[in-house]
Amino acid sequence: MGPAPPIPETGGEVRPRAVEVGVVRTLRGEVLRAGRPPEASVLPADEDPRSRHLAVELDGRVVSVGSVLPLPPPWAPERTDAWRIRGMATLEGQRGRGYGRRILLGLLEVVTAAGGHLVWCEARVGAVRFYERAGFVTLGERFVAEGVEHLSMWREI
Ligand SMILES: CC(C)(COP(=O)(O)OP(=O)(O)OC[C@H]1O[C@@H](n2cnc3c(N)ncnc32)[C@H](O)[C@@H]1OP(=O)(O)O)[C@@H](O)C(=O)NCCC(=O)NCCS
Repeated sequence: MGPAPPIPETGGEVRPRAVEVGVVRTLRGEVLRAGRPPEASVLPADEDPRSRHLAVELDGRVVSVGSVLPLPPPWAPERTDAWRIRGMATLEGQRGRGYGRRILLGLLEVVTAAGGHLVWCEARVGAVRFYERAGFVTLGERFVAEGVEHLSMWREI
């Protein structure tokens, strides 16, 4: 793995806030599990007390969410300093305004503060560019999960 690129600046004044999992689940369900029952929005990571969840709120409405959990990737099980990003979602109509980026960079800060060094995710192919903008690179071949094509992505921090 090559040298880690710097964590980009967030800019702006909207700060993500650490929230309970129940706060992220509603938007997660709307965006990532549309048309599915509420239990489809529950991730195994939600039960783990080490999971951390961030939300950006505008006028009391949650507009962007994401979660992170300490977990080695399947391709590097020895990496006990690895964390997995999950459930990244921005409300339709609020996308492209930098909220997802603030969530993602906030999650990287959480990992850094906890002493983690590798961050990875299973990115929907439509979101690969979003992660690339934050310094992630792809690994391996496309695969289908939840009926959607994904690519594994990672970065060192
Ligand atoms: C992916 C997602 C969370 C990004 O949230 P967002 O709030 O729109 O992202 P931002 O506005 O902070 O974008 C940050 C950067 O990523 C880029 N980007 C974001 N989504 C992108 C997309 N779908 N395609 C290409 N670039 C994208 C933005 O252009 C921006 O680039 P810039 O730094 O050059 O300006 C959001 O589009 C979403 O919820 N998508 C549907 C659900 C999904 O696919 N989630 C990810 C599952 S792995």
